[in-house]
Amino acid sequence: MNEKTKQGAERDRQHLWHPFTEQRAWCAEDHEILLIERGEGVWLWDTEGRRYFDGNSSIWTNIHGHSHPHILDALRQQMEKICHSSFLGFSHEAAGLLAQRLCEFFPANTLTRVFYSDDGSTAIECAMKMALQYRMQRGQEHRQQIVAFANGYHGDTLGAASLGGVDLFFRRFRHWGMKVDFVGSVEELQRRDASSIAAVVLEPMIQGVNEMRPWPAGMLRCLRHWCDAHDVHLILDEVMTGFGRTGKMFACQQEEVIPDFLCLAKGLTGGYLPMAATLTKEGIYEAFFGKEHVFYYGHSYTANPLGCAAALANLDVFATELQQELLEEKCRTFSSLVQTFSHLRGVREVRHLGMIAGVELHGEVGTGAEVCLAARKHGLLTRAIGNTVVLMPPLCATAEEMDFAVRALTQAINSTNPWSSNGDAQ
Ligand SMILES: Cc1ncc(COP(=O)(O)O)c(C=O)c1O
Repeated sequence: MNEKTKQGAERDRQHLWHPFTEQRAWCAEDHEILLIERGEGVWLWDTEGRRYFDGNSSIWTNIHGHSHPHILDALRQQMEKICHSSFLGFSHEAAGLLAQRLCEFFPANTLTRVFYSDDGSTAIECAMKMALQYRMQRGQEHRQQIVAFANGYHGDTLGAASLGGVDLFFRRFRHWGMKVDFVGSVEELQRRDASSIAAVVLEPMIQGVNEMRPWPAGMLRCLRHWCDAHDVHLILDEVMTGFGRTGKMFACQQEEVIPDFLCLAKGLTGGYLPMAATLTKEGIYEAFFGKEHVFYYGHSYTANPLGCAAALANLDVFATELQQELLEEKCRTFSSLVQTFSHLRGVREVRHLGMIAGVELHGEVGTGAEVCLAARKHGLLTRAIGNTVVLMPPLCATAEEMDFAVRALTQAINSTNPWSSNGDAQ
């Protein structure tokens, strides 16, 4: 271990506190702390010079790979002008251009307004507050209920976390959070009295943190019909699924559904800077006209110019390097590669959609984490949710690179799981 790694790890043990991490085990002497130093394309290098495939797109954010020259150029150009100025009382060109381009992904006069914030959680907070305040300003105070889906995940701030169905993350705080009704399916929702419901929140097509579980085909469209029939707003959380991840630019386009609120973050800037957007419709926006109707919400870094520049460059790269046909071809390649996991004896189930896969393992709790640790030795970094190992490569991954990742994970599963044998590897 070189001096830089040693000192970096020591500083980490002394001063840092990592998210979703049991710190005693993290700080233990026998736990090797990797310090990521640089990235290019799908690859990451640590301070020891070791190269790894970025198997979960740096926590589901990266789209076109690390250090993409076009995105870096856009950032440099913006940096030369200004890094940040207030969006309260002023505007700037990149914010408007980005809003226009985001709205253009949808039919005219549907999603027309963009409200910026900082991350997935705040994009959701915005949508919820807008949905509730809208009802108050339209004389529908009786519609105060927000409905979310069991086992869903929408972020960690107190409001967004109230929508979370993963008990482990939120049970301690439920008492202080917002009152949210949970349903397990659209059928269950259909049996509810809709008259007090303001909005329903969903991760469309696939629940991410719920171990990558796709919804049944047609579910999203069915939910949209129900919302329309009962005057309930549909909030779609595309924080994970947005920007090509499911094989279309947005997951809602898979079933030709347009939500009333669309929440975007993670891949918005291609995975370069924290930034989020909540898109909504003109009719909702207009309910906020007038002094008494102001939407009192915002953050210091709202519409950060660097974030906007990265996001615009991210969209440019879709247009120049990752058109729809190529994305679909990549999804087909990924699909056939990840299906080979189901032949491994250590694997219980493979779930996937587009460029997202969850490989659920047999074995005791902790097997997922163990497999991820073993995968490092084969040049793959990723993270498990429970016993489901996530494989979600940056969309720029070539067939060879995807194949590398799948082989690395296969070897890791076979070397870890007592039910596996190397002969099972495909
Ligand atoms: C579907 C979904 N919504 C919201 C969030 C929260 O986003 P952030 O971590 O940027 O606050 C996540 C994060 O994983 C997510 O997967």
